Amino acid sequence: MTDTSDKSATWIVPVGPDGPQPAGDLDAELSALVGQTESAGQAGQVTLLSRPVGRPSRVLLAGIGDGAEADWRAAGAAVVRAAGDETLDVILPAEVTQAALRGLTEGLWLGGYRYRDAIKAARSSEVRLILSETPGYAKSLTLARVTATATWLARDLTNTPSSVKNPEWFADQIVAEAAGRTGLTVTVRAGDELKRFGGLRAVGGGSISPPRFVEISWHPAGATTHVVLVGKGITFDTGGISIKPRDGMKLMKKDMGGAAAVVAATLGAADLNLPVRITALLPLAENAISGSAFRPGDVITHYDGSTSENTNSDAEGRIVLADALAYAAEQLAPDLVLNLATLTGANAVALGKRTAALYSPDDELAEALAGAGAAAGERMWRLPLADDYTDNLRSDIADRISAPAGPGSVMAALFLRDFFTGTRWAHLDMSAPSWSDADDLDLSKGATGWGARTLLRYLSGLP
Ligand code: BES
Ligand code: MN
Ligand code: ZN
Repeated sequence: MTDTSDKSATWIVPVGPDGPQPAGDLDAELSALVGQTESAGQAGQVTLLSRPVGRPSRVLLAGIGDGAEADWRAAGAAVVRAAGDETLDVILPAEVTQAALRGLTEGLWLGGYRYRDAIKAARSSEVRLILSETPGYAKSLTLARVTATATWLARDLTNTPSSVKNPEWFADQIVAEAAGRTGLTVTVRAGDELKRFGGLRAVGGGSISPPRFVEISWHPAGATTHVVLVGKGITFDTGGISIKPRDGMKLMKKDMGGAAAVVAATLGAADLNLPVRITALLPLAENAISGSAFRPGDVITHYDGSTSENTNSDAEGRIVLADALAYAAEQLAPDLVLNLATLTGANAVALGKRTAALYSPDDELAEALAGAGAAAGERMWRLPLADDYTDNLRSDIADRISAPAGPGSVMAALFLRDFFTGTRWAHLDMSAPSWSDADDLDLSKGATGWGARTLLRYLSGLP
């Protein structure tokens, strides 16, 4: 068993409903200490025991609640925060389940995230997992590692300041990340190649950094289902000529969070060698203000030839997404389209800070996505594609207006629905959960990487 004389500074002991479950050989002094401690076994709660001499010098009692995967995820995140920069030995009970192991390690990684460019030197902690070898553990660890790596990438991309993160930079990152893996193809369209992408050109036209349309393809032999993932990639959203008020603009570097999650999940699918065909579409543009910015009243021609009258330059997301959706319909014959976007402030008004709005005409798909989200630790709530409001989309001079009156998040979803004919699709308005104001268990302050985890879970379950 584990040697208590080893140099580790901290051990953790899981605390379930029946009290502490020490797995390593605690010496008599520590056993007594653990036994005397009234520690709550609530998931995410951590109690620190320390002693002046002896090794380990500290034991963290970590609540694991009922022992569900989410409980272990919370425990892992709480422990890694409590440990700070200390080396941590996590000694697991012999009978720990695969789900528990995945939850714990995902929690350790997700809670331990720091935005790397900003605080490079600060990441000095080390975690060692000590567990008996059991079939299935390697798979749990792989799933946790790929999920965490994907989420980290989405967070890094989203946390990157927009002075760095223009569409060209973003496209370059995607190309570089894909090049480090096998089986992925990336196409980057720019300039004249965007002729038919009238929405993307209009929105990106005000910026000194021109737009890009990135397509990532993962097409394993034998795949039967073809999923198209679309992510909103606005690298900064000033609101354009319909300029945002200063507080509303402060966090708009995060307006590419949908694209970040889609990129991360697609790369993660390749890492896991998932047997499903995926095409990721990323319209990347900066919604800037200048003499060349698109104006309210302008009529935009999308990829499918249909037109939208711009009634508010701050409703730019749906305009670039429309091109991508039309492109998917005409060129890709997908079985399924999933759309992720930081689309409306109304998402947070309706559902609060941690919940995405889910729209789909397909009950089964909606349920599967919400289920994948719940398992992954990302919550969503279904809102209606309410036909009561479709009249508001009418334009006198185009096929639709871009910013109709009505409930904001629903209206954006109805706008997008216009670009589907028959395909199964769902749209996730993830404006609210894409950002966290504070460290909160598996979420670190700043970009959350929302969506990467849900997509990977969902894609992993497809035939
Ligand atoms: N990027 C914003 C939505 C947003 C707001 C994301 C807050 C994250 C936090 C989007 O482009 C936008 O500005 N939407 C407008 C739409 C309106 C003009 C119809 C909004 O929600 O106000
Ligand atoms: Mn906007
Ligand atoms: Zn936006």
